[in-house]
Amino acid sequence: MTHPFRTAAVIGAGTIGLSWTALFAAHGLTVRVSDPRPDLAEAVDTALEQFTPHLAAMGLDVEGLAGRVHLAGDVTEAVHDADVVQENGPENLDFKKRLFARLMKEAPWHALLLSSSSAIPATAFTGHLRDASRILIGHPFNPPHLIPLVEVVPGKCTSEDAVQDAVDFYTVVGRTPIVERKEIPGFVGNRLQRAVSREATYLVQQGVITPDDLDTVLTTSLGIRWATVGLFLGQHLGGGPGGYRHLIEHIGASMGHLALGQPSSDPADQERVVKAVEEAYGSHSYADLAGERDRKQLAVLAALHPTAQTNRTKEN
Ligand SMILES: NC(=O)c1ccc[n+]([C@@H]2O[C@H](COP(=O)([O-])OP(=O)(O)OC[C@H]3O[C@@H](n4cnc5c(N)ncnc54)[C@H](O)[C@@H]3O)[C@@H](O)[C@H]2O)c1
Repeated sequence: MTHPFRTAAVIGAGTIGLSWTALFAAHGLTVRVSDPRPDLAEAVDTALEQFTPHLAAMGLDVEGLAGRVHLAGDVTEAVHDADVVQENGPENLDFKKRLFARLMKEAPWHALLLSSSSAIPATAFTGHLRDASRILIGHPFNPPHLIPLVEVVPGKCTSEDAVQDAVDFYTVVGRTPIVERKEIPGFVGNRLQRAVSREATYLVQQGVITPDDLDTVLTTSLGIRWATVGLFLGQHLGGGPGGYRHLIEHIGASMGHLALGQPSSDPADQERVVKAVEEAYGSHSYADLAGERDRKQLAVLAALHPTAQTNRTKEN
């Protein structure tokens, strides 16, 4: 680590920024939050209230957490003493171009500049800058204070030091950073999600299955398997003692012949899927559904990483 991480600036306090704010503060960082939304103070208060029990359940020290979070009047104020900046503004190329040009001028020279961008690679919004060596992607999954993965994706001009600093930073805040060495729109996680989502939409449009039954297929099979062993190890085990090689030789050909679907982009067909999802879940409130999701995700995380949680509890 070339510089300790004491102060983080969170730019953009929507779904992702609020979750990062709580996580960073729970790891003892001073957090400065900037967002032009008129209800910023209320949104931060509500998020901290909602997320603090999750962070406590993960064994983190939530004592004085809210006192470490400060609202900044603008970006300049938020980043003036930042060791690290996490950008979570709109997924819009022009916005990110303008913001990162400003950050290069206004953040301290040593500050690591990270973007939560879901699909836009860093080179697309830093190509016009003279120096983009400390700018890179730190792409989380929602909500970042619970889901461990952060995809660390350097741009063409990102330095190796910055990549290492990003890995160190996300490790310090308890995440699981994975460095991806080649930029590709959507990175890895969202490309995988897109591939599954495309087939799922096709199957619903074709009347093969309803959205809630499709979710049950996932949560009672692939979801459990993927949370424990991932895809390739799952297949290596699926081949029995002969491993992945046997699986490919044995079942690979018949799986390879499956022609996957292309969902219709006709607005009426898309609307039918939206209606089917609303029919399945629309009678429950967002708060109830999100609360149930977070409760289950915390239970899965506790089962997967029991020692991490116990160690943290002992340290506190
Ligand atoms: N939602 C997800 O599941 C998810 C997951 C991973 C990454 N991301 C990425 O994170 C980023 C934020 O996504 P989100 O879902 O939190 O969006 P969001 O719409 O919930 O939040 C964006 C926030 O940016 C604020 N904003 C607008 N202009 C701003 C400015 N000039 N300065 C500071 N803030 C400004 C908005 O007021 C809003 O609160 C996007 O790049 C998105 O692709 C989203």
